[in-house]
Amino acid sequence: FKVPEIHNEPMRSYAPGSEERKALKAAIAELEQTLPLEVPCIVNGKPIKTGKLAKQPLPHDHANHLATYHEADEATVKAAIDGALAAKADWEAMPWSDRAAIFLKAADLVSGKYRYKLMAATMLGQGKNAWQAEIDAAAELTDFLRFGVKYVEELYSIQPPRNSAGSWNRMEYRALEGFVFAVSPFNFTAIGGNLCATPALVGNVVVWKPSPAATYSNYLIYKIFEEAGVPAGVIQFIPGPPAEVAAQVISHPSFVALHFTGSTFVFKKLWRDVGANIDNYKSYPRLVGETGGKNFHLVHKSAEVKNAVLQTIRGAFEYQGQKCSALSRLYVPSSLWSNGFKDQLLTEVAKLKVGPYAEWTNFIGPVIGRPAFDKITGYIQKAKEAGGEILIGGTGDDSKGYYIQPTVILTKDPKSVTMVEEIFGPVITVFVYEDDDYEKTLELIDTTTSYGLTGSIFATDRKALLQATNKLRNAAGNVYYNEKCTGAVVGQQPFGGARGSGTNDKAGSMAIFYRFVSARSIKENF
Ligand code: ALA
Repeated sequence: FKVPEIHNEPMRSYAPGSEERKALKAAIAELEQTLPLEVPCIVNGKPIKTGKLAKQPLPHDHANHLATYHEADEATVKAAIDGALAAKADWEAMPWSDRAAIFLKAADLVSGKYRYKLMAATMLGQGKNAWQAEIDAAAELTDFLRFGVKYVEELYSIQPPRNSAGSWNRMEYRALEGFVFAVSPFNFTAIGGNLCATPALVGNVVVWKPSPAATYSNYLIYKIFEEAGVPAGVIQFIPGPPAEVAAQVISHPSFVALHFTGSTFVFKKLWRDVGANIDNYKSYPRLVGETGGKNFHLVHKSAEVKNAVLQTIRGAFEYQGQKCSALSRLYVPSSLWSNGFKDQLLTEVAKLKVGPYAEWTNFIGPVIGRPAFDKITGYIQKAKEAGGEILIGGTGDDSKGYYIQPTVILTKDPKSVTMVEEIFGPVITVFVYEDDDYEKTLELIDTTTSYGLTGSIFATDRKALLQATNKLRNAAGNVYYNEKCTGAVVGQQPFGGARGSGTNDKAGSMAIFYRFVSARSIKENF
């Protein structure tokens, strides 16, 4: 069989009066009427109510919560691992065309029947506006699933190019021997689905711990996988206290891979835990992680200002800056800064409306929770103490939801704290460089942080683009010319970075599938 040609899921506009806006509003209203929801663990296809209850708050309304969920306890984690290992042989032996069919069906359910429900869950639970929910829970998740099927087809077709006379060489792409541990973040609903679907597509079984702040949308994804035909036990859904669940899972001898998206701090901790357990495993675990970023926009004196300003606002403030790819340090030449860039930037930022998803004109919604609010406002405070000038924003309001005004800080110290550390909020710090210091600025960008995720260069001068691209070879795994540093599209810009940003295995590409197979080479003589 041949997988049909795959296209990116078309984006819907949600224009006032449009059918999709009406349908999404109805899905939000329906969800609001049923709050708070109850979410169980799911092991071997069966809901488990452990009675160890935790809450998924509503970021726009912290007096209330979206869901109460049952945290996995030790017995549940054990049952999840045992059940996954028991489900493995049948899943791996299933013809590839059937696994493909299941995930293509899941993609159709995401883009069709459950689109608005999943978006509503993402908007309420994770504080996204409609367009941010659309690019994530509707489009990107669908793309991950459909392109994933195509990539696996390509992977399986890669065979040794030579056979000597009378023999045939072939490669078989086995699933890993053990189970995969997927740990997913709050900020993209699609990532939870992808962290499970990628290993499962190539025959692995997955024990999945979603982010506490995305429990409900991730539970819906689990239910979609189930409806599409993923057999019981192949993906085990175990929300739980992150540290305890991780410790138990990682110490299991059949743990064979970590598929992680989240903070650099946690990924390093898990890596150390794997190291501490290394003598207990049957196989060397594969560690696949996408972690933090401290992403830059570099504006050259030849740049088109209006575009650079617009892209800067989008890169920094969409979804409140809570993307690992979000822009957080901006380098502008003094000639442009004082001749329109600063004024345009501040004028446009002042227009951004902050408030809940329910008002469709709001560009900026709440940040995810109390720790995020405190951390972000703490960084604004630190910037002030270090002599940074708050050009706009700088305040927060946590009286009902966790709102932070889009904030632009001007610094004279290019290595001040908000130029170096990841903030994960709607805050950018600007460093204005002398036009002649372009080369020096490249060096600065390269050496300021420990991350290497995304970066954009704005220039109409081709030489300036090339110079930056060459010098910043390791400063970003995703580079953009004259466009914002967020919004990688599956199948178009494989995503990920090195240095402190992760193992750069490129989600949304074929490369990542190699990490979840263990190839066997077979030679047959005739
Ligand atoms: N893949 C997401 C982006 O590029 C995080 O913005």
